[in-house]
Amino acid sequence: MSIDVRPESMARINTPELARAYIEEQIADIRAQVGDGKVLLALSGGVDSSVCAALLIKAIGQNLVCVHVNHGLLRKGEPEQVIKVFKEELGANLIYVDAVDRFLDKLAGVDDPEAKRHIIGEEFIDVFAEEARKLDGIKFLGQGTIWPDILESEAGIKAHHNAGGLPEDLQFELVEPVRILYKDEVRMVGKELGLPDSMVYRQPFPGPGLGVRCVGAITRDRLEAVRESDAILREEFAKWGLEGKVWQYFTVVPDFKSTGITDGKRTFEWPCIIRAINTIDVVEVTVEHLPDELLDLLAERITSEVKGINRVLFDYTPKPPATVEYE
Ligand code: XMP
Repeated sequence: MSIDVRPESMARINTPELARAYIEEQIADIRAQVGDGKVLLALSGGVDSSVCAALLIKAIGQNLVCVHVNHGLLRKGEPEQVIKVFKEELGANLIYVDAVDRFLDKLAGVDDPEAKRHIIGEEFIDVFAEEARKLDGIKFLGQGTIWPDILESEAGIKAHHNAGGLPEDLQFELVEPVRILYKDEVRMVGKELGLPDSMVYRQPFPGPGLGVRCVGAITRDRLEAVRESDAILREEFAKWGLEGKVWQYFTVVPDFKSTGITDGKRTFEWPCIIRAINTIDVVEVTVEHLPDELLDLLAERITSEVKGINRVLFDYTPKPPATVEYE
């Protein structure tokens, strides 16, 4: 049976050999726990759920049913990557749910940050529960809970995003194959399972996704401006060797416009704010200073390639006083 608590004597998994041993152990534990039962898993494409899915696929193959919900707030290329890696390469039993209209319609006109987060969270549970009800005979729920989640919930820092939230009629036994691992160990195991680096070393991304970077009431055109500018930023960071070095970087598009000029004509469009930060514990955060040439290039590319943007700004504020995200 799998263990719930990380043993104090457990060595840090920091070599491929230790990762392989962990994988073998987990495969045996998962098989012992679920037998020929089916496991349901919400697969966001984040590190934890991806590694959890890859382990479960190795252990039980088609008896794992992954559900990937596209809520319209994912980064450019993310749903496609989840489908490519899990369905095409790993042969997963993957249900893709296009819930973009559903989320964006519910969010239309909502400008309060907490209300936005609430709607996104609730809607996610509704969509996932609907998919679960369509399936027969599922007894288990896979979850990418990791050891810091348990420590933080014990310390009362944040509620552990457990099976909690699912309606009464959907109660499952949990399968948590990365529960006793620290983040660096989850990455090590993911790498050993053959997941791509872009997934294993992915920068943190909030659950409400681009929704908290499209400040105020989300509109489709401004959300697209966030998504496209973020894609350009990530592309340039990769080219400039900053990927994997800077802890987190993204763009934000606030809901106000200013005057500009393009091809001799007046424009009235949004600014795009660049945020690039480093941290150890996310409690205190410092700003990564970018080379002038890169900032010039980003300003040029984003204003010329992203519809609706006529200005690019850089956020020089550490945390505190600012938070990382804008909402
Ligand atoms: P803040 O804005 O609180 O962000 O300084 C600290 C870190 O947490 C991430 N973040 C979230 N992650 N769900 C998540 O899984 C969320 O709702 C959420 N909000 C913020 C943020 O990206 C940063 O890395």
